[in-house]
Amino acid sequence: MSKITATIITISDRSSAGARPDKSGPALIQYLKDHNFDLMEYLIIPDDLQKIQDTLISACQNSPNIIFTTGGTGFADRDNTPEATKAVLNKETPGISEYLRFKSIQITPHAMLSRAVSGIRNETLIINLPGSPKAVIESITFLLPVLPHAVELIKNSPNSEKNH
Ligand code: MTE
Repeated sequence: MSKITATIITISDRSSAGARPDKSGPALIQYLKDHNFDLMEYLIIPDDLQKIQDTLISACQNSPNIIFTTGGTGFADRDNTPEATKAVLNKETPGISEYLRFKSIQITPHAMLSRAVSGIRNETLIINLPGSPKAVIESITFLLPVLPHAVELIKNSPNSEKNH
């Protein structure tokens, strides 16, 4: 199978303003490179609902197999990542996010405070991850075994070219 292509979007007001270096995006990039993924894009944007939606839509136009977002899934007023993601999906993939919460709660009960969602837009699987580097690496480690099959299913779908 060819390499899985991935785009990473860090969603954080402070990191996008340069007030705090993004640690989660680079940690995820390193992990994905070590596991034979191809990085397509790495973006850092603020927690603005419309900006997140627009960025997801334009990132999908390059047809990465997977977009990982990190951050903005919690309970704060500016945590808009799940709402923005849902607005651009053709289909939700709740099993992925349910599994992440289920596994993560065994590490920390705080994992139940993540409202992360996931789903498919065109040919791209979009997966919200929480914001801390620790949570990102734990989450991607849980997901890794299932991602190749998930990507194959989307690629082989006769409707995968729709809305292009
Ligand atoms: N998931 C894992 N695997 N490990 C963690 O340490 N932290 C949680 C959670 N999910 C955590 C986790 C915490 S503390 C919060 S508040 C929520 O994700 C939401 O994080 P976010 O607002 O940065 O997206």
